[in-house]
Amino acid sequence: MTPTLHVGIAGARFAARFHWKSYQKVTGTRVEVVGVTSRSPESRAAFAREFDVRSFDSFEELCDASDAIDICAPGAVHESLAVEAFNRGKHVIVEKPFTGYFGPGDESFRGDEFPKETMLKEALASCDRILKAAADSGKTLCYAENWVYAPAIQKEREILTKSGGQILWMMGDESHSGSHSPYYGIWKHSGGGSVVGKACHPLTAALSLKRSEGLARDGRAIRPATVSARTHEITRLPGFRDAGFLRTRYHDTEDYSQLHLTFDDGTVADIFSAELVLGGVHNWLEVFANNHRTRCNLNPVDALETFVPREELLKDVYVTEKIETKQGWSRPAADEDWQHGYPQEFQDFVESIRNGREALSNASLARDTIAVLYSAYVSAERRGQEVTVPL
Ligand SMILES: NC(=O)c1ccc[n+]([C@@H]2O[C@H](COP(=O)([O-])OP(=O)(O)OC[C@H]3O[C@@H](n4cnc5c(N)ncnc54)[C@H](O)[C@@H]3O)[C@@H](O)[C@H]2O)c1
Repeated sequence: MTPTLHVGIAGARFAARFHWKSYQKVTGTRVEVVGVTSRSPESRAAFAREFDVRSFDSFEELCDASDAIDICAPGAVHESLAVEAFNRGKHVIVEKPFTGYFGPGDESFRGDEFPKETMLKEALASCDRILKAAADSGKTLCYAENWVYAPAIQKEREILTKSGGQILWMMGDESHSGSHSPYYGIWKHSGGGSVVGKACHPLTAALSLKRSEGLARDGRAIRPATVSARTHEITRLPGFRDAGFLRTRYHDTEDYSQLHLTFDDGTVADIFSAELVLGGVHNWLEVFANNHRTRCNLNPVDALETFVPREELLKDVYVTEKIETKQGWSRPAADEDWQHGYPQEFQDFVESIRNGREALSNASLARDTIAVLYSAYVSAERRGQEVTVPL
């Protein structure tokens, strides 16, 4: 029997919770979450109590008890934690954003005013330090982009590759009314706003589909070539009228973005993301191919449509992520984690670690994503000028 895979989680709140739940669903290999650490003693103690795991006072102790480290902390510490875990001989799973640029460490840093070419260069250097640490250790690096594994995207991958299709254009979006995390909206913690925090999801799904198309047809991945982008700070406009439904007070990050991407075969994708959208999360990617067209709806989906005349009837019922009201018609998610691809993602990560193979969402996809996202900031700084993505 293969030995149990011991996983330690760094970070103890939102992402850590759905990662823990996903490990419970892995089949074929025994996985044990040995414990958790975080910067805040309160959050790690609360997580340890809720899930009956050990709370570790330090990252080093967590590493000592683990075969694999799963990083669910804010983006600013992804590189340091990943490199340290690899140096200690552990496999590593890194949440999005893979890494980025978080400032030179001084209090006066504002991401919206900082030169974006420097950010791009530094973000790629950060990627390369993680990739080198992974290569030196010989351990597996998984990039936790759940959209790659969402069943709607995976079914489109099957349609695309088995039908021999060519994707000509994709259009996608991840938007909602604003993140719950106190770190979000502060560039030095998050590495950016809607571009890095939200556009990353449909973008990586789009990158992954074009990779699959190229590999299936020619044995060569189709990769991003150029990006043109605009970003805006709508909730910080002097004339913005706050009706109380959207999160506001983003410190130095954008709350709207639009990316136009070209691939190295000349085909295109348009990716939107915003913190300005009411009605629950709005996660979708539409694929326009030469032989088919698919709308991948991740959330909401209409497996259920429910009407209640009064909100309080559903007070104990989870409906869907970030929905503002449950009254009237709603589309309760039958299994939101499954729709988002979380259990499928961790099944692949565990199998890739066990079998010493690449995960579908791997280091190279993570690096391409960061290259596009920070090239998009360079383009936005130039009011939408086309920028070549440095691979
Ligand atoms: N894939 C997804 O759908 C998804 C959703 C939400 C968040 N995320 C990602 O997950 C990560 C965490 O986000 P979140 O929403 O859980 O944030 P959060 O604010 O809810 O939790 C962050 C946790 O990290 C801990 N932390 C901070 N610094 C740390 C350090 N140096 N070492 C260890 N722990 C530290 C905090 O104490 C806290 O427990 C981010 O990278 C975020 O982008 C992904």
